[in-house]
Amino acid sequence: MKKTKIAGIGFNVPNNIVTNHDLEDMMDTTDEWIKTRSGIEERRWVEAGTANSDLALPACIEAIKKAGISTNEIDLIIVGTVSSDYNFPGMAPIIQQKLGITQNIPAYDISAACSAFIYLLEIGDQHIKSGKYKNILLVGSDLMSTIIDRSPEGRSTGVLFGDGSGAVVLQESLDDSQILSTHIFADGKGVEHLGANAPGSIFNPRRIDDQLVADRQHLPHQNGREVFKNAVKRMPEAVNVALKHNDLNIDDVSLVIAHQANKRILETCAKRMNLPMEKMYINIQKYGNTTAATIPIAMCEAIEENKFNRGDYIILTAFGAGYTWASAAIKW
Ligand code: ACO
Repeated sequence: MKKTKIAGIGFNVPNNIVTNHDLEDMMDTTDEWIKTRSGIEERRWVEAGTANSDLALPACIEAIKKAGISTNEIDLIIVGTVSSDYNFPGMAPIIQQKLGITQNIPAYDISAACSAFIYLLEIGDQHIKSGKYKNILLVGSDLMSTIIDRSPEGRSTGVLFGDGSGAVVLQESLDDSQILSTHIFADGKGVEHLGANAPGSIFNPRRIDDQLVADRQHLPHQNGREVFKNAVKRMPEAVNVALKHNDLNIDDVSLVIAHQANKRILETCAKRMNLPMEKMYINIQKYGNTTAATIPIAMCEAIEENKFNRGDYIILTAFGAGYTWASAAIKW
């Protein structure tokens, strides 16, 4: 059986830093409220005129360069996002075009919100193992600044999110470094607790109109407490599934990289998993919640900070809208 490795990884965030203080007037909030409830100190927002694919492109180029291949060797692109350039088509064909890939390779998007990156890893891993594709580009990228309500009415969700992109290239592994397993889950009962409704076919015969906008149906809604409760249940559960599947103990793991939604969620998860906080990677203070991008961004920064080495076991986990949740075990 073939094995899959992460051959290259890259990330990109906008230069424009938006601090909690910058949001105080705009959203009628305080630095203190945001920091104590979420651990977030600042986030990045793209400048007007920048599309999601523009932000993602440098992350893709970096991942491809680190994998040591040319862009024309990419044979499949899959993007995970909730903030695509257009309502349709998806963003993956746009990335294909912006990368200058001339072959008619497959390129498509998936929608799994904050869990998307691990969903992508599962799909990519199966394709490498089957031998169907050899150089798969996976992109987790979100421009949450284009989705959030920047007014006081939207403050309970608006302060939590930021913009960011991450990308990896998957290839067959010829040594011991590999994705050991991926585990993805969903529970549609979560639909009502987190999302943005319009444009949507539920509003048939219109997907969006002035009334829907006036009713704020195009803006994110969230039952924060319900989301919190489920996130701290599902991520430790998923990590345990990954540990058990690979006959590992939490002490064998060098680092857990969890979706960066909220520092208090990460602390509660660590406690429930008996994981010391130094093994729970946290960079949410700098970027907020970048949805599909948090995990590849965190992986890049953890690598730069030498948080794990060749041969170490790392675990990824995520939870998000749907509900969806997931984990992956990797031997680096
Ligand atoms: N600034 C100031 N006050 C605020 C703000 C704000 N930005 N937002 C809400 N408040 C006020 C509310 O109006 C409320 O005031 P009231 O008591 O006078 O009515 C008070 O703060 C408490 O509001 P709650 O919503 O009950 O606050 P809570 O302690 O639940 O914290 C939070 C809210 C941070 C959203 C929390 O529930 C949470 O972190 N949930 C997880 C959400 C999450 O991470 N979602 C991301 C997407 S899913 C994912 O990635 C896992």
